[in-house]
Amino acid sequence: MKVLVTGVNGQLGHDVVSRLLEAGIEPVGVDMQDFDLTDENETMNYVTRVSPDAVIHCAAFTAVDRAENEIEKCSLVNGLGTKNLVRAAVRVKAKFMYISTDYVFPGDGDRPYETQDPKGPLNIYGQSKLQGEVAVTSQMTAYFIVRTSWVYGVNGNNFVKTMLRLGKEKPSLSVVCDQIGSPTFSDDLATLLVEMIQTSKYGVYHATNEGFCSWAEFASSIMGHAGLKCAIRPVPTTEYKTPARRPLNSRLSKASLDQAGFPRLPAWEDALERYLKLIV
Ligand SMILES: NC(=O)c1ccc[n+]([C@@H]2O[C@H](COP(=O)([O-])OP(=O)(O)OC[C@H]3O[C@@H](n4cnc5c(N)ncnc54)[C@H](OP(=O)(O)O)[C@@H]3O)[C@@H](O)[C@H]2O)c1
Repeated sequence: MKVLVTGVNGQLGHDVVSRLLEAGIEPVGVDMQDFDLTDENETMNYVTRVSPDAVIHCAAFTAVDRAENEIEKCSLVNGLGTKNLVRAAVRVKAKFMYISTDYVFPGDGDRPYETQDPKGPLNIYGQSKLQGEVAVTSQMTAYFIVRTSWVYGVNGNNFVKTMLRLGKEKPSLSVVCDQIGSPTFSDDLATLLVEMIQTSKYGVYHATNEGFCSWAEFASSIMGHAGLKCAIRPVPTTEYKTPARRPLNSRLSKASLDQAGFPRLPAWEDALERYLKLIV
């Protein structure tokens, strides 16, 4: 089996390629220097030349706040880019897996979102990722869509690395306490994605590390495990202005994973401990 992985220089793409190799599957990891997803011909030519059996689409415009000012670029990469890649995957009859986000939901209520719940993104990034989902569902009958949240990995910048840096520089930090979700270690997610892509259990799934917390609780846990003295001051979203609005409720239900017999990911605290051992 040959699997094309987009976004290999990003957090998740990097780990998916490692996990594929470990599973004895041939990965073809690609990024911007190989082809630009927003270019229909480049994408079609590359994919038809490689002719993979499956595509795991991890590449995306992921700068949530920047997206508010770069609306067209974000939509081009996440919407049109996904459309181009799906078209090429259909041409070579490759299985397709699209990585999506909790930000497709409006974040109201306090129960975990089921996969089929109504969408309603609050920001440009979420809208563009939903465009990507539609690009998949409108062109294919069988696909994997896997929504995840609050991703951190060894390869790239993320909230954990930012907290570690600021935790060494500052005695205290204000962190939002009313956005609730699940931090997700990209390596744990990658393990599941590689298991999934080898099956024909197509569908829409939610996959995150288990358990929920606020960003402030996550930050406190990072400081604690890293032995940093920086105090975390919990603040409501209303006191922490960012260009992009973010959902307060980012909880995702794992019912569809359970129904398909896929394993849930480990607890977020456990994942964080393993991650910190790798990078600190
Ligand atoms: N990070 C999160 O918290 C989070 C949460 C929920 C869902 N997700 C989703 O999970 C997936 C993986 O996220 P991640 O954190 O691993 O992302 P990431 O680290 O930002 O990596 C994204 C990759 O996509 C590449 N890319 C951007 N534009 C491209 C284009 N036009 N053509 C080809 N490649 C392009 C980037 O290349 P350059 O570096 O060269 O720009 C980068 O290597 C994404 O689909 C994201 O939407 C992420």
